[in-house]
Amino acid sequence: MAKKLFTFLSSLTLIFLFTYLAAAKPTGFSRTLSPSSLGLRKEKLTHLHFYFHDTVSGRKPTAVKVAEALMTNTSSTGFGKVSVADDPLTTGPELGSKLVGKAQGIYASAAQDETALLMVLNFEFTEGKYNGSYLSLLGRNPITNTGLREMPIVGGSGLFRFARGFAQAKTYTFDLKTSDAVVEYNIYVLHY
Ligand SMILES: *[C@@H]1O[C@H](CO)[C@@H](O)[C@H](O)[C@H]1NC(C)=O
Ligand SMILES: *[C@@H]1O[C@H](CO)[C@@H](O)[C@H](O)[C@H]1NC(C)=O
Repeated sequence: MAKKLFTFLSSLTLIFLFTYLAAAKPTGFSRTLSPSSLGLRKEKLTHLHFYFHDTVSGRKPTAVKVAEALMTNTSSTGFGKVSVADDPLTTGPELGSKLVGKAQGIYASAAQDETALLMVLNFEFTEGKYNGSYLSLLGRNPITNTGLREMPIVGGSGLFRFARGFAQAKTYTFDLKTSDAVVEYNIYVLHY
């Protein structure tokens, strides 16, 4: 009996000891760094301006529908429709103007009372010093609103590491027959 009690007590002591050691030891997957160790100096604000060409018609569309709900065709807002886009970004409103990147991602009709899209896009830049850097946008886009639609920029890569900011989108042209659109974007981001 005494031996059993002794064994029980020593197991208990071992358990406590292990718990204590586990809590006291650093876990080994995180550490605190100074921002300069990643070469981060002063944060700056950058403004980007370009036109986004969303072409859904013709033989070479840049945005395609990939899914919809059974009831999407009964919804005045196209609720449930999901599209994937690889839309060119140019410096001017004409598609033939200088290409600076692509907007690649998904937009989904996510509102029943107005046409508003959930936008999940990566802006991939291919010109100038931002060639190879990306910005990620995640936001709500009420596309029939003719004013400025604002969407958050939630991050970036390359020169846009640690980016955060906002995009303002304004429809430049919308073709009622084809639904092709050109949208003017102004993006303001803080990054290093
Ligand atoms: C919607 O599409 C379904 C097939 O997916 C079809 O059966 C139905 O008739 C359509 N409804 C309308 C209003 O077009
Ligand atoms: C952008 O970067 C890619 C890959 O490094 C390179 O092939 C391309 O020529 C660059 N474009 C410009 C315009 O500098």
